[in-house]
Amino acid sequence: MPKVLISDKLSPAAVEIFRRRGIEVDVKPGLSPAELRAIIEPYDGLAVRSATKVTRELMEAAPNLRVVGRAGIGVDNVDVTSATNRGVVVMNTPHGNAITTAEHAIAMMFALARQLPEASASTKAGKWEKNRFMGVELFGKTLGLIGCGNIGSIVADRAVGLKMKVIAFDPFLSERRALELGVEKVELADLLERADFISLHAPLTEQTRDILSRENLERMKKGARVINCARGGLVDEAALADAIRSGHLAGAALDVFETEPAKESPLFGLENVVCTPHLGAATAEAQENVALQVADQMADYLLTGA
Ligand code: MLT
Repeated sequence: MPKVLISDKLSPAAVEIFRRRGIEVDVKPGLSPAELRAIIEPYDGLAVRSATKVTRELMEAAPNLRVVGRAGIGVDNVDVTSATNRGVVVMNTPHGNAITTAEHAIAMMFALARQLPEASASTKAGKWEKNRFMGVELFGKTLGLIGCGNIGSIVADRAVGLKMKVIAFDPFLSERRALELGVEKVELADLLERADFISLHAPLTEQTRDILSRENLERMKKGARVINCARGGLVDEAALADAIRSGHLAGAALDVFETEPAKESPLFGLENVVCTPHLGAATAEAQENVALQVADQMADYLLTGA
């Protein structure tokens, strides 16, 4: 009987699936890297979210390991090259939390447009600052998507429903798909110049790192706003803070940071900056979905090799 270790907090639904499919499963979240290395030897599968770092050292201590399942989209916490070299399959769940993450990006866009966090804090503090919080409408504004795949396309669909004009820079987006989505496919330079809101939905790769660099932030339309619910590292955080401080940009909403957990950032002290602690996938529904999907996929592979 194959054995799987779940080393991060995963919905109990995953345990149920493994057991139902005849796979022995242990749940041990919160172990240190050394503790994990010490117990990994007998396991055929390892199921993680983002806390466990699946390093070469960990895999060297796991001679039986055949599959690493990431309950989520990004596999940034898995050394995929080392896994591939060892014949360990790495799988993710690219669809399970896409709606939830797209909804978070839309929520961030509204929060920015209407300064909801500041208005809420001020009202709860007993002030009634009706004149302080003048917002902007989303209706008729241009939303620029950097990345229009699983998540970006859901954001596009919701934004079209809000009567926004949606433009997207994504080398993998076909004209046909863009047409289906009601999105105009554009080059990055065009997007930077035209968008009132830019929302990032790209993975962090060598090509996308710092895609909103200081230079590109300077090319953005005056008064535009940035939303990042994808990956820290896509935006130069110091340059973004400078652009907001100087008044060139009107604000930013960030769910992800270059270094996480983010304990400090040049953006934290600024008004018109909304921050959340990588909550993009944090809904009951999404966590259930990714747990079910990763367990089923891993069970398929461990039981049938497919
Ligand atoms: C993902 O890659 O699935 C998201 O960033 C959410 C997460 O890391 O939990």
